[in-house]
Amino acid sequence: MGKNIPLFKVFMAKEIDEPILSVLHSGWIGEGPKVAEFEAKLKEYFGNHRLTTLNNGTAGLHLAYHIAQYQDAPKSYYNTNKNEIITTPITCTATNEPIIATGAKIVWADVDPITGSIDPSDIENKITENTKAITMVHWGGNPCRIDEINVIAKKYGIRTVEDGAHCMGMEYKGKMFGNHSDYSVVSLQAIKHITSADGGILMLKSETDFKRAKLLRWYGIDRTIREGFDLRCELDVPEAGYKYHMNDVCATIGMINFSHVDEILTIQRDNAKFYNNAFAGCPAITPVPENPDGKSACWLYTLHVNNRDELMKKLGEEGIMASKVHARNDTHSMFAEFKTWLPGVEQFNKTHLCIPVGWWVTHEDREYIAEKVIKYAR
Ligand SMILES: Cc1ncc(COP(=O)(O)O)c(C=O)c1O
Repeated sequence: MGKNIPLFKVFMAKEIDEPILSVLHSGWIGEGPKVAEFEAKLKEYFGNHRLTTLNNGTAGLHLAYHIAQYQDAPKSYYNTNKNEIITTPITCTATNEPIIATGAKIVWADVDPITGSIDPSDIENKITENTKAITMVHWGGNPCRIDEINVIAKKYGIRTVEDGAHCMGMEYKGKMFGNHSDYSVVSLQAIKHITSADGGILMLKSETDFKRAKLLRWYGIDRTIREGFDLRCELDVPEAGYKYHMNDVCATIGMINFSHVDEILTIQRDNAKFYNNAFAGCPAITPVPENPDGKSACWLYTLHVNNRDELMKKLGEEGIMASKVHARNDTHSMFAEFKTWLPGVEQFNKTHLCIPVGWWVTHEDREYIAEKVIKYAR
């Protein structure tokens, strides 16, 4: 039988059945003790106690954009329509659609043509008095130039959002993802390193923002249990929120899978290292280099070749799934009004391709994949 190596695969721990059945029949499947237990483990892992779980990563981005824009005047939402958020089109649309949901305008910054990471110098060119936040996306778990971006943001008093949907376990300058910027988001969606079926994590720098995020994830309602008050009925709600919390079923799935995080990351990183060595002497292949200031989570392995579309097709014929993974966002009709010339995006998008690197890729698979990539790359 021929090969069939997927680009993505759902990791579900073998020991999951018993805990899942147990929570399903526990009488508590909403947000409860399992969410609290999962959050405690995540806080320890990321080293940031201002962390809240959510029902997906997109919700985390939406909350981050909301809080970054409406810091002092929560009652004046969406009343100016002048707010701008500088972001990258080299990402999933989930990074940018929540910007529209908050009523802000998108301002695209260009990316490095090889890494696909947002370019700090272009960010600075695009700052105006209406800029409220800068978003960086760590493509495939490879860190952007986070410090440089935060220095620029600080200079202008702007908040920074890290879309770390691909970044479980990523490190930057010796610190775990989730400790560098105002808002950091991880996705626990089906095909990520760790899944909770669907879920997200939002980490925050300021205590004020953290408290607000906790309220906004549940309609703005303070869920503290108070003596003498009717548990079912909320007190005054000063700011309208969302239904973005995680539930105990997802938390149980996430928690059990999360106990495998180190082994998953070790395999992904080892596979990436193998490809780097295999492609080292091949002039037709330019692998995306890891940021020397960090440690990639290696969710994707991305390389550049001049015959990208042909290579993708040939690999498919050999039973290897390869893909661009995300379409550049700025060419979508929904973002048409924000269009601008982005030479780095143009170049990245012409030649980049992702090949399987995940925990399911065996030594035999990766040798086979490397051999085929070298054979067909031009
Ligand atoms: C870069 C990026 N940002 C955000 C998201 C959204 O995460 P979620 O699916 O958990 O909402 C995704 C996709 O999962 C993504 O790839």
